[in-house]
Amino acid sequence: MSTGRPALADATRGRVLFGGDYNPEQWPEEVWQEDVRLMREAGVNSVTVGVFSWSRLEPQPGERDFGWLDRLMDLLHDHEIGVVLATPTASPPPWMGRLHPDTLPRDADGHVERWGGRQHFSHSSATYRRYAAAITEDLAARYGGHPALTLWHINNEYCTYDHGDEAAAAFRRWLRERYGTLDSLNEAWGTAFWSQRYDTWDGILPPRRTHYLKNPAQVLDFRRFTSDMLLECFTAERDIVARHTPHIPVTTNFMPLWTGQDAWRWAEEEDVVSVDLYPDPRDPLARHHGALVQDMTRSQAHGPWMLMEQAAGAVNWRGVNHPKPRGLNRLWSLQAVARGADAICYFQWRQSRQGAEKFHSGMLGHAGEEGRTFQEVKQLGADLARLGPHVTGTAVTAEVAVLHDWHSWWAGDQEARPSTRFGLPDLLHAWHRALTEAHLTADFAHPEHDLSAYRAVFVPQLYLLTDAAVDNLLAYVHGGGHLVCGFHTGVADEDDRIRPGGMDARLRELFGIRVLHEWWPLETGESVTCEGFTGTLWSEEIEPADPDEAIPYRGGELDGLPAVLRRGRAWYLSTLPEPDALRSLLARIAAEAGVRPALDGLPAHVEAVRRGELLFLLNHGRDPVTVTVPGTHAELLTGAAVTGAITLERHGAAVLRP
Ligand code: GLA
Repeated sequence: MSTGRPALADATRGRVLFGGDYNPEQWPEEVWQEDVRLMREAGVNSVTVGVFSWSRLEPQPGERDFGWLDRLMDLLHDHEIGVVLATPTASPPPWMGRLHPDTLPRDADGHVERWGGRQHFSHSSATYRRYAAAITEDLAARYGGHPALTLWHINNEYCTYDHGDEAAAAFRRWLRERYGTLDSLNEAWGTAFWSQRYDTWDGILPPRRTHYLKNPAQVLDFRRFTSDMLLECFTAERDIVARHTPHIPVTTNFMPLWTGQDAWRWAEEEDVVSVDLYPDPRDPLARHHGALVQDMTRSQAHGPWMLMEQAAGAVNWRGVNHPKPRGLNRLWSLQAVARGADAICYFQWRQSRQGAEKFHSGMLGHAGEEGRTFQEVKQLGADLARLGPHVTGTAVTAEVAVLHDWHSWWAGDQEARPSTRFGLPDLLHAWHRALTEAHLTADFAHPEHDLSAYRAVFVPQLYLLTDAAVDNLLAYVHGGGHLVCGFHTGVADEDDRIRPGGMDARLRELFGIRVLHEWWPLETGESVTCEGFTGTLWSEEIEPADPDEAIPYRGGELDGLPAVLRRGRAWYLSTLPEPDALRSLLARIAAEAGVRPALDGLPAHVEAVRRGELLFLLNHGRDPVTVTVPGTHAELLTGAAVTGAITLERHGAAVLRP
């Protein structure tokens, strides 16, 4: 809905938005005064209010209590802090479930999810939608004209499922629209298998508990349906606020690489794309996870995006929750800016003393303003204030793209497949990491997007490809693009029907595959030897047809057969090369396509990203490191002049302007 709609730039106005979720309803009003004082001190210019305020705003059905929010909005405005105002619809008040059990979702076993936690709403419930629309309408009417309002935040991390009766009826309506006739549904779902043929729409259920394996096409459609239902909830609220405030942008926060929403489709409906990101500080690959999610979010936004939530320190939902070592919060925040974020925000401003998240860090932790976390937040606020005028609104340079599609993920990630030892995220991470370690910045794209702007396109795995996507990939290669596809790609069509030959015939021809005899998935920890490297997770028995280049398997059942195939500019990898080998192979292909790293000669732990005219250098290592940078630059965080080389401290960063 971007045309004619406001954008993130309308909220940032040349500053990086800096702040976080603010839940003042958890605190006496005297504390608010201290909050705004410390927010000012930390350079906070934006807070997200009201995400979980429904029971406060609507204590009884239809009642309204806006007094506290009036005072809060005024207070924030008086202190020049903008408000990202949330609709509170992610957590209905207890009275709703009690009075209207039809608003509660059911899992596949028929168990009801009740109040006492959050997100206990059925996306298909007419009652829920009616209450959600009413509170949204009243919020928009009351605060649409408030000068503190900068952005609307609808709901929070849409992520629920519902297998109940009202959802079942909605599923049938959705299917009727998709297929028109029962015959066509029966055909698409392959219901000739196991006597599943439907003779009436009323016989169709969400994929509830079954004795044995479920129909995979039914499961795929249920995932599509769920994403669409949640999107309907989003657009219904979006349309209400947009009617009141056509000039204020609207967002909803995605979870990172979350399976439940087709984020390509969703992003089209948002003015601002935002994401929540919580890499584990102890995970040695955390920075790669961050880079992946940031690149994906930027690509969905087609420009600047918003980091809606991150943790200033520890989270509370892992087995062991590690705080961030000194400097890491700043480093990861600057990584997000480097990769296109114009807003750096947290869950949450002040750490809670009660409730399920009392052990989750806040910008202002239990240690208070003298705590290290708050002190580091303050430093970051100052850094972002310096960067704002140079960075906001600028574009990240990416000459290569990684393809990803939720429908393929939904079809591929099911029971009863050749291997359940890994999932698509493992492959996305491995390939994206290889590119990042080669200092290549990648966009993400959908397989049906126009890819002509990219010199090389990488496909970790697209098990399901529509005919249009296959056409697109072929046109891309024929138009001069370099294409690299991972194993088990192009296997199924849009209905999850295996394509004749086990892979689309045109793709087989493109890669030089005469027969794809068998998939040979590997056990966890098992590897295959290939000439010059080892492969993991998977291997394939391929009879090649005239490839320009082939790297063979060595030893084992597949001895001599190709592990990697190239024909012209099209490459196929039938295993997952170990990280070093994948990195050098992808770097070689990118170089052949004319793509250069962001900076030559970089040490492994230093990340370099170009955004606009700026070069971001990020030291992910624990030791200081000196980086050679030809020419003379101004370093924007310190104001220093840099000629020839710069030393980055442990977890240090530099932002260079020519
Ligand atoms: C999510 C939610 C927040 C909070 C954080 C904790 O991102 O949106 O409300 O629960 O997780 O990490």
